[in-house]
Amino acid sequence: MFTVKATPFDLSLPARGETLHLELVPSVPTDPGVALVPVTRGDDGIEIPVTGLATEGLLESLEVLGATGKEGEVTRVLRDATMVIAFGLGDAEEIDEDVVRRCAGVLARSLTGVERATVTTEFGLRPIAEGLLLGGYSFTGLKNPGENPRDETATTRINVVAEDSESARAEYARAVVAAESTLLARDLVNTPANFLYPESYAEVISEIAGQSGLKVEVFDENYLEENGFGGILAVGKGSARPPRLVHLAWEPAGADTTVALVGKGITFDTGGISLKPASNMEDMISDMGGSAAVVAAISAAARLELGVRVEAWVPLAENMPSGTASHPGDVITHYGGITSEILNTDAEGRLVLADAIARASEDEPDYLIETATLTGAQLVALGNRTAGVMGSEEFRDRVADIGRSVGEAAWAMPLLEEQEEELTSPVADIRNVHNARTGGMLFAGLYLSRFVAEDTQWVHIDVAGPAWNTKGAWGYTPKRATGAPVRTIVEALTRLA
Ligand code: BES
Ligand code: MN
Ligand code: ZN
Repeated sequence: MFTVKATPFDLSLPARGETLHLELVPSVPTDPGVALVPVTRGDDGIEIPVTGLATEGLLESLEVLGATGKEGEVTRVLRDATMVIAFGLGDAEEIDEDVVRRCAGVLARSLTGVERATVTTEFGLRPIAEGLLLGGYSFTGLKNPGENPRDETATTRINVVAEDSESARAEYARAVVAAESTLLARDLVNTPANFLYPESYAEVISEIAGQSGLKVEVFDENYLEENGFGGILAVGKGSARPPRLVHLAWEPAGADTTVALVGKGITFDTGGISLKPASNMEDMISDMGGSAAVVAAISAAARLELGVRVEAWVPLAENMPSGTASHPGDVITHYGGITSEILNTDAEGRLVLADAIARASEDEPDYLIETATLTGAQLVALGNRTAGVMGSEEFRDRVADIGRSVGEAAWAMPLLEEQEEELTSPVADIRNVHNARTGGMLFAGLYLSRFVAEDTQWVHIDVAGPAWNTKGAWGYTPKRATGAPVRTIVEALTRLA
């Protein structure tokens, strides 16, 4: 039996996800195993658009089986004791990168029991490789194998055929790093909160930093106290597990652009004294999804040796109710001096992010990208899959575009002038919630905007829905942790380098 960890990192986590094993090869091997053949839907039914793998007579067999070539359709055909798996890409004119990536993801999820297979890359090397790695991911945590270890646990090896060139190898390497970084974020988010708490998470982040070639500093609760990080402390103080702030840096020689990254790292969000209802509270293990994306993205920047300086700040805290927890009505002082009235302890993400954004802004980065599972209102406004993107207008629109270009749905949203007034408090500079049932995602964005330095181009990506899939698997997106928005950030860093 042969299994592969979904990422190359060696980490002190209790369990890791697994995925398919890919190999880049210059031509179809003499013994290719299962042939993975792309098919499309034409005016007169199913079509086989490319002939990289032996396909004579295949069309007739597929027609007999009723295959249509529609997007996401997977059809197994046995031919002379060898297997062909046809995967549908839909209408030929509608095919783009993410269609290919999604269909490769569906294909990957259907490969249980297949030991060896070969796929050609006429529809793009990058989306095929990414879709297979992302869709092939599975996380079974601490589940015991049971009495009859099923052969599904054997990992599939896939030959990915592409021309033997420098550019193909580079494209493949970029695809693998983008996918593995996404899977790293999934592993972090999928880890239960009894294993992943601020101190242990900071340790794992340090391991990732060491293995990617990043500088790392971990600041403990004493440092946070001495240096005025009132937001992180206020959220962390209800927990027996004290908070942390982690700083990671990728500082390549000669880089003239600096990008700061900030990610929400609430290792579990009970709501605190403003306690959440019990039903579905377990989903709040995903409340460190923003931090996981930021850590994974900066590790990708290092592995890809991007020529841009990246400084990541991740505030880590567990939001718990207890005798030492913050109360509604408390007034705190954020890093940098802005005071805030906590009216709802469940609006904790903005409190830890405010400190981290203020600290990141002190170094005057050219760009600041912050991401968080920040509001339930994001799900109300945009649904489960589409991130809300706020910030300085031009950069906001660019990042939303980048998200869509890599298949991570994202939509630009405004910061509203009329909500400025709702930020006011009788006893502090601002308050952490407003008195309205409307525009909750935008209000949170406005709160954060107060901590960004004047000339910084910045963006806030609310991924409350997109980071955690409570519905069924689709395309290359599994249940539970999705790894969003890792690929958006990696692509943004690549374009800024
Ligand atoms: N972590 C939650 C937001 C969230 C909700 C993420 C659902 C993923 C799925 C956040 O800390 C929170 O509790 N937000 C509150 C804010 C409210 C008290 C103003 C919310 O959205 O209800
Ligand atoms: Mn909360
Ligand atoms: Zn939260």
